[in-house]
Amino acid sequence: MTPAWIPVALSADIEAGTSAGTLVNGEERVVWRDDKGAIHVWEDRCPHRGMRMSFGFVRGDHIACLYHGWRYDTGGQCRYIPAHPDLEVPQTIKVPTFAATERAGIIWMAPEGADAAELSALPETAEPVRSLFLDMPAEAALSAVKTALPEGYGVSATTAATLTLQGNDVTVLIAAQPRDAGRTALHITVVGNASAAIRRTLALWAIDLRNRLEAHTTEAA
Ligand code: FES
Repeated sequence: MTPAWIPVALSADIEAGTSAGTLVNGEERVVWRDDKGAIHVWEDRCPHRGMRMSFGFVRGDHIACLYHGWRYDTGGQCRYIPAHPDLEVPQTIKVPTFAATERAGIIWMAPEGADAAELSALPETAEPVRSLFLDMPAEAALSAVKTALPEGYGVSATTAATLTLQGNDVTVLIAAQPRDAGRTALHITVVGNASAAIRRTLALWAIDLRNRLEAHTTEAA
């Protein structure tokens, strides 16, 4: 089966020169953007002593690890070890990397072999609404959205990882990131007449949804 693309962050949340750690199916990943604006998703672990790469510093087109300063280029290859400045770094010192792309205002990652055409049905760009973090599996999170749609919107399309909602002149994309078996991040973006007021209304709807789901969980406990 062709590996599927997984949403990992809103594009707007990872500015050039910054990084963030995240969880994908229980595995730690670092999402970072270099100074040219290109996005990268790697295993969040330095090959030297295991420090999280997301704790390091993005410097131009590489990340320097926080612990001993080893520098990795955009391909994940270690290029410089400060304690041995004259050493030609062995090619084997490399951080595992993943395919990464941006579509509909969201950063997506995939294991090797993913088909880029899988995302082609989505709009190229979109405005961010917010990410919503829920303590439930991804499938349950998307089901919960369907039972509490924002007023004036209906479901127009679904995939395993996304819901598309259609309102008046506005299309909302909700993409589910499985953080682990019981936790999900929903990344929400909007296309069309995405005024600040509409985005604010959608953000408030999302927060209300999370509050209701949390209250439901507390009652059930
Ligand atoms: S742990 Fe990263 S450079 Fe040592």
